[in-house]
Amino acid sequence: MEYVELGWSDLKVSRIGLGTWQFSEAWGLTEYEKAKQVISKAVEVGINFFDTAMVYGRGMSETFLGRAFKELGVKREDVVIATKIPGEFLQPDDVFKAVDRSLKRLGVSYIDLLQIHHPPTHHNFPTSKYARALERLVVQGVVRYLGVSNYPIALVEDLRTSMSITDIVSMQYRFNLVERWAEEELIPYAEANDLAFIPWSPLAKGALSGKYTLENIGELKDLRANDPVFNEENFKKILPLVNLLREIASKYGKTPSQVVLNWLVNYSPAIIPIPGAKTPEQVEENAGSVGWRLSYEDWRAIDELSRSIRITYVVW
Ligand SMILES: NC(=O)c1ccc[n+]([C@@H]2O[C@H](COP(=O)([O-])OP(=O)(O)OC[C@H]3O[C@@H](n4cnc5c(N)ncnc54)[C@H](OP(=O)(O)O)[C@@H]3O)[C@@H](O)[C@H]2O)c1
Repeated sequence: MEYVELGWSDLKVSRIGLGTWQFSEAWGLTEYEKAKQVISKAVEVGINFFDTAMVYGRGMSETFLGRAFKELGVKREDVVIATKIPGEFLQPDDVFKAVDRSLKRLGVSYIDLLQIHHPPTHHNFPTSKYARALERLVVQGVVRYLGVSNYPIALVEDLRTSMSITDIVSMQYRFNLVERWAEEELIPYAEANDLAFIPWSPLAKGALSGKYTLENIGELKDLRANDPVFNEENFKKILPLVNLLREIASKYGKTPSQVVLNWLVNYSPAIIPIPGAKTPEQVEENAGSVGWRLSYEDWRAIDELSRSIRITYVVW
């Protein structure tokens, strides 16, 4: 496994992290023992960066993560825990209450990275007020670093201006080979400000893994049943890319998922993908996406084909 610094911080994180939204009803992995096997494999292959959120399974993901670390004897300082506070929990008093509960579920005394999951779009919570509350958590030592997720640049700027003792260290957004909007403004902003860019759904929720076809996408019963990428009209557009990924993968003795993740880390040094996994085998495979490099020609061929794909979110 390769390790990099998370943005301007002193946190050393594995180049490939583990996303844990999978430990929820939305994705269907709700059995603790199965989640523990996934976490155990991640630790074994050198993954130390774990992304969770308060809302994943309404605390289930955080609880599983904390319990597994304890049972596996993982030392607190050997893992970097990134969780998220939802935009609805940003009235100042709720910020403290939410973080207290998160710490309890995770069974830890501090969170390495607290990300704001999304802006408080449905509420008039002024940025300066919740920024002050979040910074108090850093002063108290219960949060080491702050980050944003799904924030437009104007709001990122607003938040950073409102902060007085620290700065955000990371930005997390959707970014994968068929959903590339983040490269318009968000990734250049992260790069220019020495912030980590954490792409979510790096495998396009498994659509780029090569195992889904027009014949079997209709059988998906989890959140992907309603995901635009798995809509037939869109899925048809991405199939040529999946074929190219398969072709290139076989040249290197790798899998399409490994090629996708290798492509992403070679897109920018700021990028730290957090693929989700349902099995220990997937974790191991995803960890094997670094330690080698796609040739410039192959990287370009994937880039070009991926750029020509325009999926639509108007699917009904
Ligand atoms: N900040 C946000 O708003 C936000 C939003 C979404 C996600 N996230 C975070 O980002 C993480 C990753 O995103 P995601 O879970 O949406 O999508 P993803 O990582 O693109 O896809 C994960 C899914 O792909 C399949 N998969 C993974 N590795 C595979 C492999 N090697 N071979 C074949 N299939 C494989 C698995 O599903 P199957 O085996 O069932 O196909 C897995 O559940 C989440 O866990 C979460 O931590 C954050």
